[in-house]
Amino acid sequence: MDQSSLPIIEALQQHAESLPDSFHVPGHKNGTVQPAYARDILSAARYDQTELPGLDDLHDPRGVIASAQKLTAEVYGSRSAFFLIGGSTAGNLIMILAALQEGDVVLVQRDIHKSIINGLRLVKAQPVFLDPEYDAASGLSLGLNVHEVQKAFYSYPKAAGLIVNRPGYYGWTSPLRAVIEEAKHHGAVVLADEAHGAHFPAGDVFPDSALSLGADLVVHSAHKTLPALTMTGFLHVGGAGTISPAQVQEAAAMVESSSPSYLLLASLDAARKYLYELMRTEDAVLQKQLEQTKHAVLQAGALEERIPPEHIRTDPLKIVARAPQGYTGWALQRYLEEEQVFTELADEKHVVFFLSFEPLSTNTLQRIERGAARLRRENPSLYSGSGVRSFPPMGMQQMPADWYQAGRGETQTKALRAVEQEQAAIDIIPYPPGIPLFLKGEILTGKRLNVLLERLEQGGDVQGVWRGENGQWLTSIVKRKET
Ligand SMILES: Cc1ncc(COP(=O)(O)O)c(C=O)c1O
Repeated sequence: MDQSSLPIIEALQQHAESLPDSFHVPGHKNGTVQPAYARDILSAARYDQTELPGLDDLHDPRGVIASAQKLTAEVYGSRSAFFLIGGSTAGNLIMILAALQEGDVVLVQRDIHKSIINGLRLVKAQPVFLDPEYDAASGLSLGLNVHEVQKAFYSYPKAAGLIVNRPGYYGWTSPLRAVIEEAKHHGAVVLADEAHGAHFPAGDVFPDSALSLGADLVVHSAHKTLPALTMTGFLHVGGAGTISPAQVQEAAAMVESSSPSYLLLASLDAARKYLYELMRTEDAVLQKQLEQTKHAVLQAGALEERIPPEHIRTDPLKIVARAPQGYTGWALQRYLEEEQVFTELADEKHVVFFLSFEPLSTNTLQRIERGAARLRRENPSLYSGSGVRSFPPMGMQQMPADWYQAGRGETQTKALRAVEQEQAAIDIIPYPPGIPLFLKGEILTGKRLNVLLERLEQGGDVQGVWRGENGQWLTSIVKRKET
């Protein structure tokens, strides 16, 4: 196939050049009806089209969208590729709707994005959560260990599926071949949330994609690591053919808009070509470029990189920088932001920089230097945290049969300091990374509650928790029945 072509972009350009008159949606009429105050920011509206002749239909692709998706499948080596216009969030919902059914027992890595949990709720599947391995030094997840998966299949030999999150937000990538083989041996489908790995096929300098290791469905956020617009992603059908592309197409139509954005589709077309060009760049060139950038960032901030144990591969497109001794990652992140340097994620001990394949300017490096130096000089509140794990292991955990409707009914707002032993009525989710600490219906207790309180004290963001008028943290709990 001609990977230099851009089917969607070319069709949109051709349409615009024909100076069309619009009597169809969207209401901005090829971008001509635009209030002055929005004109600049919406300047691409000219290409924000709908399913006109020549522009195909995402939900029944036969023309330029079908061609662009085929080019994508070829680049990734998947059986079929689907363009996502609702990010990996939509991809995860689609993946679960396509592959699983009500009542299916599914083994699920516990440190998983909330969209997976919501997908499981939608199909009313029965998750059994598996702890990932944790790094003792940093508390960070190292992904699913094959022994845990073997143990799980021993207890649940009829499990219909296994869902993994790999790599995590930090780019740490666990070995997956044996895990997938174990699931296949038991006839379970493997669904991989690889939101952070859309660039993995770029070369051997990156970890293997779950796709090349035999996963049945794999989801990518194109916008996270490729130069694509927010909300773009890919869903790939791989494996040996357990799940048909038709099942995915049907599920996609249930989840995604019937008026998909052509700007997003165009962006995916471009991202695929960009990836193809990266694949043609020598590995040594990519490696050198990314290593230089990493070195420059760490040196500018006088920071050290957090290195995982040997069996874990890192993604060279990310830097997991350790906050200087005595400071939280959040404090370092705040100081960088004051220099207009915005990073993707911070936690108790780290700041995570997401890089691109382009070199950084001297100005950027100077800002990093200033931010990190000011943090040390001005000595803001020193970190006195206990260094607890960011997510305490919980053991293999089977959810109750009606778990998906937990938290419904009468609820009550309560101070977080007084919720011990209450039942959560809302998912409590540190964000980013968007991995629920408590699910609706779970009892708020134990180490996880301490982790939550400490995170809030130190300045980490959490969804499902908010400040009351007197400044205390509140959340929603299931109201106890009067006895
Ligand atoms: C592991 C993982 N999966 C899924 C998602 C959702 O991705 P998106 O923002 O593309 O919807 C995220 C977002 O941060 C994520 O980290």
